[in-house]
Amino acid sequence: MMEAKRLELVERIQNLKKEKRAIILAHNYQRPEVQDVADYVGDSIELSRRAMAEEEARIIVFSAVDFMAQTAAILNPNKKVLIPSLGARCPMAQMLPAENVKFWKRKHPNTPVVLYVNTLAEAKAECDICCTSANALKIVSSLNADTILFGPDHNLAWYVQQKTGKKIISIPERGFCPTHLLFLKEDILLLKEEYANATVAVHPECTPDVQSTADFIGSTSQICRFAKESPAEKLIIGTEVGILHRLKTENPSKDFIPVYNGAICPNMKRNTLELIYLALKEERYPINVPDNVADRARRSLDKMFEIT
Ligand code: 13P
Ligand code: SF4
Repeated sequence: MMEAKRLELVERIQNLKKEKRAIILAHNYQRPEVQDVADYVGDSIELSRRAMAEEEARIIVFSAVDFMAQTAAILNPNKKVLIPSLGARCPMAQMLPAENVKFWKRKHPNTPVVLYVNTLAEAKAECDICCTSANALKIVSSLNADTILFGPDHNLAWYVQQKTGKKIISIPERGFCPTHLLFLKEDILLLKEEYANATVAVHPECTPDVQSTADFIGSTSQICRFAKESPAEKLIIGTEVGILHRLKTENPSKDFIPVYNGAICPNMKRNTLELIYLALKEERYPINVPDNVADRARRSLDKMFEIT
């Protein structure tokens, strides 16, 4: 985008924010210019917490994907939550419809159901408790059961099973994130040869093979924190490349090497500066979750917050 156009949009966005008592929350994968205009940039659980903490705000522009904006709307029934692009939909969240959760519950009665926040509200309403990649181990460990139904990410389920020693039944059997599936163990091994002493940090949505190469596995913000605190000067990063903007801004003296430059989540990138401006101006697109669904989904989210 041309610099003059960007500056003009940023100014209009700032004016509208003041005028409408609005804030902008952006996920770590958002476009650099979107991260720069946001009041807060974070991972999925941080953004939800932040949305709840912003008591003065009337409008929250949630620059991320559908399930994250829905979560904010469920937790903030008195605020208007807007998503700049209706096309920003997480394909993983579509892999586990509520009907599917009910099917697995019938198949395994009396087994607790933990759902990753990367699910739609109707599915959340059917589970016992939610989790994010930042707290999945804590949530599953807290449950008084040896077998857990867990979905929709099969790779996160594998990670949780390894770390907690509990039997995890993946629902669906092989839910996945198409973007994190692009990372290959072979590519990481080659990069490790090329960049001696580099530290590897990956997201738990990566395959078990890729996870096995990592020095650190965590949520997007946990990766950012690790990068800051680690003495490593070179870090190989196995998550969506949008995170590199924040990593480089916060650690200008360190080198960040993406495992694969093409690991772009097209859904996350649907939100542009122009669409954020229009979201504020026209108060579009509001997220509406029917009360009966929102109330039940909120219960599963609140249980997660109680434990974390
Ligand atoms: P985080 O909670 O780690 O930000 O992950 C959300 C996500 O969609 C990763 O692909
Ligand atoms: Fe969904 Fe993957 Fe995009 Fe995250 S990176 S929003 S899990 S498709």
